Amino acid sequence: MEIKKVGIIGCGLMGSGIAQVCAQAGIQTVVHEIDKDALEKGMSRIDKGLGRLEKKEKITTEEKSSIQGRITGTTDLLKLKDSDLIIEAAIEDIAIKRSIFKTLDEECKPETIFATNTSSLSVIDIAARTSRTDRFCGLHFFNPVPVMALVEVVRTLTTSDETFNNAFNFAKQIGKEPIACKDNSGFVVNLLLVPFMLDAIRAVENGIASIVDIDKGMQLGCGHPMGPLTLLDFVGLDTTYYIANIMFDEYRETRYAPPPLLKRLVLAGHLGKKSGRGFYDYTGDEPVPAL
Ligand code: CAA
Repeated sequence: MEIKKVGIIGCGLMGSGIAQVCAQAGIQTVVHEIDKDALEKGMSRIDKGLGRLEKKEKITTEEKSSIQGRITGTTDLLKLKDSDLIIEAAIEDIAIKRSIFKTLDEECKPETIFATNTSSLSVIDIAARTSRTDRFCGLHFFNPVPVMALVEVVRTLTTSDETFNNAFNFAKQIGKEPIACKDNSGFVVNLLLVPFMLDAIRAVENGIASIVDIDKGMQLGCGHPMGPLTLLDFVGLDTTYYIANIMFDEYRETRYAPPPLLKRLVLAGHLGKKSGRGFYDYTGDEPVPAL
């Protein structure tokens, strides 16, 4: 099944990136946000993302405008009803995700495939509220979506082979590298990445080394593009705290338990790059350690 029209729920950091790569792959893309303000912000994020490519001469001005011509922004969920595939990238709130899919389930054509970009919730928990559990899977992208090659394609206990294969091929269609994952909390990447990032926070708590040296250690010692504390600020400390809590709840293993320092930083509103401060302070020209 060739995917010709994609509906995307949410035009935040992930949704806008997903919309951009779908439109770049020549697919008609409709992206939904809850209100005009959020939609405008999301569309300008896409404009900025494509502008980055234009500036580097990876696309021409004409290509940029034809890519943008394939993206329609809307605040009306029903505008997505004739999509071949819906990818939900709304906030990590199970009640909101269930409610979105309940509406879409009633309105979309029967063959529309539903996918969630959740990073830690269980896909079947969202799928089970619809009448198409066989046509429901996870498609988990990574930030920044236009740059990161991977997509985790998540098969639940009820996902049909046809749906899984269509989703897997769709990831290739948009130029990504898919991997097959079971519907366990954290899939493959967060299962390994989250305890690693939490251990870096524990290293800070235990005074093992400075923030800068912990980051430098993993960058220069293991070739990571970002050290774990920079990556935490990049992902968002609130997001990581939220994911860790879900994973701890699922596995009851202490390696997923959020360290007290992470909780304190979130309570203080120090959420990382997006709030201007996390493990580093981003208010100057260059990030400086904030702890
Ligand atoms: N959006 C789009 N493109 C971006 C970008 C962004 N936010 N940031 C950087 N880029 C592009 C640049 O334009 C550049 O493109 P070219 O190679 O075509 O010139 C390329 O990425 C490299 O960028 P820079 O040279 O400016 O900077 P860099 O080399 O430091 O790379 C980075 C930036 C790609 C973000 C890199 O540091 C990196 O890979 N970091 C790790 C990111 C990561 O681990 N992401 C996964 C997070 S976990 C997650 O998302 C899942 C979850 O559920 C929490």
